[in-house]
Amino acid sequence: MSYNLLKGKRGIIFGALDEHSIAWKTAERVHEEGGTFVLTNAPVAMRMGQIKVLAEKTGSEIIPADATSQEDLENLVSKSMEILGGKLDFVLHSIGMSINVRKGRHYTDENYDFTAKGWDISALSFHRVLQNLYKADAMNEWGSIVALTYMAAQRTFPDYNDMADNKAYLESVARSFGYFFGKEKKVRVNTISQSPTATTAGSGVKGFDGFISYAEKMSPLGNATAQDCADYTVSLFSDLTKKVTMQNLFHDGGFSNTGVSQEVIERFSE
Ligand SMILES: NC(=O)c1ccc[n+]([C@@H]2O[C@H](COP(=O)([O-])OP(=O)(O)OC[C@H]3O[C@@H](n4cnc5c(N)ncnc54)[C@H](O)[C@@H]3O)[C@@H](O)[C@H]2O)c1
Repeated sequence: MSYNLLKGKRGIIFGALDEHSIAWKTAERVHEEGGTFVLTNAPVAMRMGQIKVLAEKTGSEIIPADATSQEDLENLVSKSMEILGGKLDFVLHSIGMSINVRKGRHYTDENYDFTAKGWDISALSFHRVLQNLYKADAMNEWGSIVALTYMAAQRTFPDYNDMADNKAYLESVARSFGYFFGKEKKVRVNTISQSPTATTAGSGVKGFDGFISYAEKMSPLGNATAQDCADYTVSLFSDLTKKVTMQNLFHDGGFSNTGVSQEVIERFSE
């Protein structure tokens, strides 16, 4: 169902890799709500070609950008404003990648070159995006910028590896930059802390199947899906949440405030 919540709003959506991506579902949902946007992803992800399907479906243009490249981000911000015909109202940062996880390096045996690269892609990139938008004065007043995160930033999930540290940094950037973006430009900056979700990035975490079923059993409302996350993001892009900023917003069916659930107790009483 569409409520026209984003009619006339313009933005940039990072991170739609395939139809499972949270960014993909969000792009479809933003389109339904009347928003127009530029899609972007790393040039290497572009070669997989699926993003073109989404672009056609949503009438969007694609601008490749490596989120660790200053040059790419500058180009992305200025070209997006040109294509969309003005300043932006919303931006979704939906980017994550740990080289240590990919290469099977344990948290107690990190390769620090991998760590630095993963941090650059997953965490510092959010500062880069914000700084580029800020310096180019690319956001309209009451605009909204959202990044995706996971609760491993607050609590330990052993196999989440160095992504836990990256997410802690990302959430801190949202607060710190959110102060300046709020003060100077009346723009919101928040992170959504999403349930485990079956996507390419999610499934890369060791033991993901056990992880997602456990979270499902622990959450009174069940896990939030990528589609649910798209809905929530639309609400944060809309004018109905204008005074929400500098927050880490748990979107997890209640998981983060549940000590133990009846289902989990029963499992251990067998
Ligand atoms: N899937 C989960 O369980 C889960 C849970 C909580 C938070 N998140 C977060 O949601 C976000 C989106 O992930 P997803 O689950 O949709 O997986 P995904 O694999 O579909 O998306 C990750 C995206 O990051 C992009 N990316 C990687 N390196 C990049 C670079 N250098 N420049 C630009 N883009 C780059 C990839 O191309 C991909 O599109 C991530 O921040 C992830 O950490 C995921």
